Amino acid sequence: MGRFYIDGGRCLEGTLQIQGGKNAVLPILAATVLNGGISHIHDCPQILDVFTMIRILESIGCSVRWEEKTLIIDSSSVFSYEIPEELVREMRSSIILLGSVLGRHKKVVISYPGGCPLGPRPIDLHIKALKQLGATIKEDHGFIICEASKLVGSKIHLDFPSVGATENIMLAAVLAEGTTVIYNAAKEPEIKDLQDFLNGMGAKIKGASTDVIIIEGVKSLHQIEHKVMPDRIVTGTYLSAAAITGGEVLLSNVNPNHIQAITSKLREAGCIILEERDKIYLKAPKKLKNIDIIRTQPYPGFPTDMQAQMMAMLTVASGTSIITETVFESRYKHVEELIRMGASITLEGRTAIIKGVDSLTGTNVYAKDLRGGAALIIAGLAAQGVTIVDGSKHIERGYEQIDKDLNTLGASIKKES
Ligand code: EPZ
Repeated sequence: MGRFYIDGGRCLEGTLQIQGGKNAVLPILAATVLNGGISHIHDCPQILDVFTMIRILESIGCSVRWEEKTLIIDSSSVFSYEIPEELVREMRSSIILLGSVLGRHKKVVISYPGGCPLGPRPIDLHIKALKQLGATIKEDHGFIICEASKLVGSKIHLDFPSVGATENIMLAAVLAEGTTVIYNAAKEPEIKDLQDFLNGMGAKIKGASTDVIIIEGVKSLHQIEHKVMPDRIVTGTYLSAAAITGGEVLLSNVNPNHIQAITSKLREAGCIILEERDKIYLKAPKKLKNIDIIRTQPYPGFPTDMQAQMMAMLTVASGTSIITETVFESRYKHVEELIRMGASITLEGRTAIIKGVDSLTGTNVYAKDLRGGAALIIAGLAAQGVTIVDGSKHIERGYEQIDKDLNTLGASIKKES
C-alpha cells in the first residue's frame, strides 16, 4: 500500500478543475449492462473504484476502452450473470450490479460486498425491494442468488432513503413490466444523474431529487452518450483543504447547488465563498472559527462523506466544534490518527467533540478508509513538519490525483507507490 509525504504549513492558492463524480459514475457503469449496446461516458474519473468496476464489467462479457477521459462500453455480448467474488470484496459498491444484471438477465449471483469499513453495511433494503419486484433471493455460503421469471413493477417504500437501494431499484425496474414507485427515495444528486443517464437510453423515469421516483417499464434501451456530473465530495474536500491553510482558491467544473450544506458550514467557519454557474471561489480567514454543530444527514443535509474532512479542518479552529455522525455506525477511524497529530478530539457514541488547538504536528498516520484518508491529508497540509499518510490506495479509490491537484494549488505532497 503506497503513502503520501506532506510537507505542511503552505497556503493553498490558485485554480483547479474538479473531476467527474465517483458516486455518480459507479451506478452509471452498472447501468451500461442494461442496453446491450454502446455507452459513451464522458469525464469519467480515472480512480481505483472505476478500474475495479471495469474489471467486473469485462468479467461478465462487456468490452471496455478509454478514449482520453471518455469510457466506451459495449454490453452487447454480456454472457455471464456471476459477479467475481474477489472483485466484490474489493469494492462494496459493486452491489449496484445486483439491479442491473438482474434487470438484463433476470438472474444474478454475487457475494456479500466488502469495501469501506464503515460499520455493518447491510443490504436488507436492497433485498426486500427486489423481492417486491418479483425476484426470489437465496443466500448460500456468502453468496446471493437472485432470479426472477419476470420483473413486475411495484410500490416500494424504503425504511431509510438508502442511495444504493434507490439505485438498485431503478436499475431493476427500467425493463420490468408495469410501473414502479419508490417512496422515501434517496435525493442525492447522483440519483438524478443516473435518471438522466437511463432516460438518455430510452427509460421512462421521473422524480429523481425528490423522495418519490416513478419508473415506467420499457421493452428495450438503446445506446447513449453522457457526461458525468462533477464530484461534489472532491469539491468539498479541496475547499476544506484551502480553508485549513488560510488559502484562496477558485474551483471549476463545480455545481454549487450540490454543496450548499458544505458551503454554509464553511461560511460559519469564517470563509468567504462566491458562487457562479459552474465555479466556486473560497477565501479563508487567518484563523477559522469553530462550528457549533454538524450533523450528517441524507441529502440535502450535511453529507456523511464530508464528515472526516470537516473534522480535520476544525482541529485547528478557535473554540470547540461538535460533529454527530447519524448515517453510518462507525465512521470515526480517522479520529485516533488526528489525535496522533496533536488534535484534541473526544468521542461519545456517534458524537465527536473537537477542541481547537493552535497547531498540529506532522507524524506517521494511517488511512483506514477513503474519506478518513483525505482528512489526514488535509490535516497534514496544516501540520508543522512532514506528515506521512500510509494507505494511499484507500484515497486513490475516489481521488484521481489528489497529490498533483493539491500541488497545483501550492502544497508540497510526494507520493510513494
Ligand atoms: C452511498 O453508499 C455512497 N457510495 C457512500 O459514499 C455514501 O456515504 C452513502 O451513499 C451515503 O450518502 C456510493 O454511492 C458508491 P446507503 P451506500 O445505502 O449506497 C444503511 C464514499 O465515501 N443501509 O445510503 O452504501 C447503511 O448501513 C462512500 O464515497 C441499511 O441499513 O449508502 C448506512 O448506515 C462511502 N440497509 C446507511 O443506510 C441497506 O439495505 C446509508 O447507506 C442499505 C443501507
